[in-house]
Amino acid sequence: MPPLVWRFGHRYVEGLVRDMPRILVLHGPNLNLLGNREASIYGTETLERINASLMKLGGELGVQLVIRQSNFEGELVNWIQDARGDYRGIIINPAAYTHTSIAIRDALAAVDLPTIEVHLSNIYRREDFRQHSYVSGVALAQISGFGATGYLLALRGLCEHILKTSSKGSE
Ligand code: DQA
Repeated sequence: MPPLVWRFGHRYVEGLVRDMPRILVLHGPNLNLLGNREASIYGTETLERINASLMKLGGELGVQLVIRQSNFEGELVNWIQDARGDYRGIIINPAAYTHTSIAIRDALAAVDLPTIEVHLSNIYRREDFRQHSYVSGVALAQISGFGATGYLLALRGLCEHILKTSSKGSE
């Protein structure tokens, strides 16, 4: 699936879009099934709808979002590596890889971009094997248990962080 990229249709505005901070949003394995996957845990909202809300908020906050989903660990690692230089931050729900993937953790550490880890469910109220995250140690913050709203909170928090850190740099 090609990545979703938020953009205006207008030429003049496209110039502005190019200069907007870019944020990479990554969804891990099985999140493509949201909406009919264990709805009592993950809710009824589809990934498409979550992405549409993110795109809308991204527009309001003045950032450009690129959103991708994969069921493959190496693909997620490649996208994280490619984010270096082009992006100002990452929002990631690594899904089951949260609990298994040193490779994703190492990729995030390598690119050293502010990263927000999101989980729809509260992983600390679930099975023991979900209570350890390899990603949280390299994340700026983790949001867990707010359902789809967690992604929007992550985007607001990350934008505020980017704004704060860029205004410090220009002082
Ligand atoms: C999840 C929690 C993980 O434990 C699980 O493997 C997922 C989704 C969440 O969003 O709550 O696939 O990351």
